[in-house]
Amino acid sequence: MPTESDPPTTISDILVSSRSLAEYRAMFTLTGDDLRCRILDCPGGTAGFTADVCAAGGDVTACDPVYGQYTTIELAAMAQRESDRGNRYCRSHADDYVWTFFSDPDDHAFSRSEAGRQFSDDRRAHPERYIAGGLPRLPFDDKAFDLVLSSHLLFSYADRLDLSFHHDAVCELMRVAAAEVRIFPLVTLDQTEYPHLDALRQRLADDGITTDILSVDYQFQAGANAMLVCTRSTDPQ
Ligand SMILES: C[S@@+](CC[C@H](N)C(=O)[O-])C[C@H]1O[C@@H](n2cnc3c(N)ncnc32)[C@H](O)[C@@H]1O
Repeated sequence: MPTESDPPTTISDILVSSRSLAEYRAMFTLTGDDLRCRILDCPGGTAGFTADVCAAGGDVTACDPVYGQYTTIELAAMAQRESDRGNRYCRSHADDYVWTFFSDPDDHAFSRSEAGRQFSDDRRAHPERYIAGGLPRLPFDDKAFDLVLSSHLLFSYADRLDLSFHHDAVCELMRVAAAEVRIFPLVTLDQTEYPHLDALRQRLADDGITTDILSVDYQFQAGANAMLVCTRSTDPQ
């Protein structure tokens, strides 16, 4: 039976991760104007993004199922435990990662722990920014946000979330977005391109949703350096 200290061979349960504002900026090529919009981060996980942007006067809401399942104290412990789990995986699969954004696994561990701590402090001080909910049904009105960001759930976990889920999830993210949805990355956990991307884009096009693939100046997981940008092809008045 594997123990906590054994290097993990796969990320088994969906990781609850803690990315920083710097990672979000890079993954989604966020500009200053973007950061002044009403933003939804779904899934928010234990990322420090919401805390950091709101501290600078921005308007971000995070949404994730775990916000309804655990207390703030439990989430703080989870943020550190999951940062450690993700870091153990990166260390044992170091060749699957590009060590430029993070100089080495210690830098990665520090950044994720720090972002998790920001999340925990902010969730304690501003619980209203962290809304429990899960795709493909979100507890928000139509067009409640200008920009919707979604990182490391869709496409990443294609081994357990099927094409229909992806289609329903993107349509739901679009429902709550007045302008745009950005999704990163486009590869699965084993570094291969999401296998149903063409089929998904065709289904979305049939629904009146335009999708564009844009390269981004960020790559940590090898091959993960593009995002999907979704906008409405036609917007009925
Ligand atoms: C790898 S984390 C990504 C968190 C954050 N976006 C980041 O990059 O640090 C994946 C998250 O997806 C959440 N999740 C799992 N199922 C979900 C669903 N059906 N809808 C929304 N989020 C979900 C998990 O709770 C977890 O926090």
